[in-house]
Amino acid sequence: MTRERVAERLGSTFESLPDESARGLPVYRGKVRDVVLGGKNLLLVASDRISAFDRVLSSVPCKGEVLARIASFWFEATADIAPNHVLAGPGSGLSGTGRATLARRAEMLPLEVVVRGYLSGSAWRDYQSGRAVSGIALPGGLSFNEKFPVPIITPSSKEAAGHDRPLSRAELLAEGLVSEETWREVERVSLALFRRGQEVAARGGLILADTKYEFGLVDGRLTLCDEIHTPDSSRYWWAESYPSRYQTHEPQRELDKEPFRRWLVERGFAGDGEPPRIPEEVRLETSWRYLQAFEAITGENFEPIGVDPQSESAAIARIVEERLL
Ligand SMILES: Nc1ncnc2c1ncn2[C@@H]1O[C@H](COP(=O)(O)OP(=O)(O)OP(=O)(O)O)[C@@H](O)[C@H]1O
Ligand SMILES: [Mg+2]
Repeated sequence: MTRERVAERLGSTFESLPDESARGLPVYRGKVRDVVLGGKNLLLVASDRISAFDRVLSSVPCKGEVLARIASFWFEATADIAPNHVLAGPGSGLSGTGRATLARRAEMLPLEVVVRGYLSGSAWRDYQSGRAVSGIALPGGLSFNEKFPVPIITPSSKEAAGHDRPLSRAELLAEGLVSEETWREVERVSLALFRRGQEVAARGGLILADTKYEFGLVDGRLTLCDEIHTPDSSRYWWAESYPSRYQTHEPQRELDKEPFRRWLVERGFAGDGEPPRIPEEVRLETSWRYLQAFEAITGENFEPIGVDPQSESAAIARIVEERLL
């Protein structure tokens, strides 16, 4: 896809799933995705909304399709490691839209399982101010974005309202959020998924620095749910520039929406008050980055499946009728 064609789509992004497409089924609306809830199954629809600092601020052409298709790529690339919730997805059983994923409805564990290969983000901020990172006491003298000898797991609770809380292993077990047996399996699977993620990302010249998994139980079986290794749930860096930037303590070149966040911060917005209006060139540039992410991760050129929001909404309505009602 060319930049010109992305620009043509600035005026026709997929903002949200119309109520009619759900055919009377309940819809859960997250910040970025709309989820049509069937009895046994659900349909995850990735919109083009973009959030930063927990606020939806704008829309970005093709973003939803890019995310859904990156997740779909990774579910396939990790299917031998753990069962996942996918029944059909973009390019594999669902037509007319690239942003919908049909999945088994799971009983979700109330946890976000964050795996970190490098000392970055909130873990770096905690470390710098002398706090343990989700109960893990790290050795002294580590540098910004330093690679850990082995990846660590820093879980947090998934709160219905408010911000997620970092938890130690001991805390999450004491609070009974998950049984010890299940947690051990979560740890084993998460580390294996992350290792695979790092290997595959490396082939595209990328470092998967950290990511977040969500698991659920389907017929009593631990199942990988939600999304996997998308730029929205992960931090990716370009591998080529890692060593020199690490040496000089500069921020890494990121693949994800960090530049979008930085643009906001430069204009004095960090989540509170009135957000600035997002100009078209920023929406275009952000879209362009998501397309590059798709190509680096999957090794394929991005050609959109979805044509426009109206025809995608109609295709989704058909999928709901045939597969969910
Ligand atoms: N297989 C599944 N079964 C049941 N729920 C699922 C499944 N996969 C994902 N979910 C849930 O569906 C929702 C997806 O919504 P989404 O991620 O867009 O919003 P959110 O997590 O509520 O908020 P945020 O916008 O901060 O991510 C999440 O609550 C996720 O936990
Ligand atoms: Mg979510």
